[in-house]
Amino acid sequence: MIRLLLLFLWPNILLAQQPITDKIGAAIYQQGQLNTTVKVLIGPDAIPAPLKLFACTNCHGESGVGKQEAGITAPDIRWSQLTKPYQFTSIDGRQRGPYNRALLARAITNGIDASGNQLNHHMPRYQLVDPALNKLLDYLEQLEHLNNAGIADDYINISILLPDINSAEGQALSAILKPLIKAYFDQINRQGGIYNRLLQAHYSHQQVTPEDIFAVLDLRFQTSNLSSPTILTIAAYGEESSNNQHHYTLYPTPEKTKQILIDAIYHHLALAPDQIIDLEAHTNDNCSIINNKASAFFISSPNNSQCIQQWLTTWRQHPSPPSLLLANPSAQDYLFKQHPSPVYTILPMSLQDISLRGQRNYQQLTRDYSLSQQQIIFQFMTLASAETMISALQQTGRNLNHATFIKTLHNFYEFDSGFSSPITFGVNRRLGIQSGRVKQLKVINDQIKWGLPEQK
Ligand code: HEC
Repeated sequence: MIRLLLLFLWPNILLAQQPITDKIGAAIYQQGQLNTTVKVLIGPDAIPAPLKLFACTNCHGESGVGKQEAGITAPDIRWSQLTKPYQFTSIDGRQRGPYNRALLARAITNGIDASGNQLNHHMPRYQLVDPALNKLLDYLEQLEHLNNAGIADDYINISILLPDINSAEGQALSAILKPLIKAYFDQINRQGGIYNRLLQAHYSHQQVTPEDIFAVLDLRFQTSNLSSPTILTIAAYGEESSNNQHHYTLYPTPEKTKQILIDAIYHHLALAPDQIIDLEAHTNDNCSIINNKASAFFISSPNNSQCIQQWLTTWRQHPSPPSLLLANPSAQDYLFKQHPSPVYTILPMSLQDISLRGQRNYQQLTRDYSLSQQQIIFQFMTLASAETMISALQQTGRNLNHATFIKTLHNFYEFDSGFSSPITFGVNRRLGIQSGRVKQLKVINDQIKWGLPEQK
């Protein structure tokens, strides 16, 4: 089993970032994001503040139903609510008639309600103009529908993004992951689906913006982020998007992984911050850095660094060779087989993360549907993501919409997918697994094994 890990190249199909489609209305509503420096006037003295601190969702909620926080009640601003054709009485007794687009624009920019009353100063005044203002109105008009997009009483539409078939690796991986997900969904549907809703999978290799999709399971194993803030995404791996309330990822990117490894080794070897040197940051100098008295060197791949080649030829003379931190354990690691001091690496997951239940489920699935057992690490990462999505759907229950689904995800604390280490999400945490398995290289009978780091 351990040998399988050596075949696993930490995402070897990093693909180009895809173009970002402009969804201005959603970006303003959900993230307070706009490419210009629009200000927001707040409080009784109309003090200017940055838009990004005042996303509508902060007060009116993901789906516009409103919320109560710190004694302030932000009302329901769903389109159907705002345009109801009769007098509406707010909690503090103010009466107003129905809104239309122009009146709504006035409320947002000047804080005046549909009947000409001043709204209280807890509602900021947005200095928005067209076309952005118009886009925001469009979004408000659609919001209710978006919240329920892709679900009906008897189905849930899920978009499955598979690796790019333009590369050989992507093609091979897609050919394994697609039947796996098909089987996994089929198994759930045979048991009645999720609260009588059957899962309908729609497969694709590219960004999706379909109107009738509830959520996306992104299995492309690439760093790009789905740009649309309205599409709910669970990605096996990808950019940790701190702003996008709709984008959740399980496994960290190489950048983050590198930091986890370096932090772990600082701790393990009790080093000072300047004792680990990142050789990749020194590719252009004369490599004199390798004679420095560092205690450890970080590299992601031997090919990336000229200094590493030089290092390999000089380490034998080195009086006390530093440890090596490898980001990407691959075939080239054989170069380090006889390295005289410890070599550490990090794996996004290891087979020890697979629980007994996970193993049993996987065995049954592969047997029942005659599935391939190749690329097993990617298969487990896929199943961990799928389990996360399905559990969140199940826990949300009958009253499923985007807002209730996201609320469920925010309550995921140390969730056991069966195929990964525990997953935690929260309001400000959308990367589920913020750790990795730190391993130390061991050579046993001329074979490379990755074991637990040895105690110092
Ligand atoms: C800091 C909290 C906060 C933010 C951010 C905020 N609002 Fe409000 N909003 C309120 C409060 C509180 C009220 C109620 C004011 C009142 O009743 O006098 C309100 C009222 C409204 C109303 C009037 C509803 C009615 O029934 O008359 C609309 C429309 C509205 N907000 C839209 C928005 C939009 C669109 C955004 C984002 C561009 C936004 N709000 C951002 C707090 C907020």
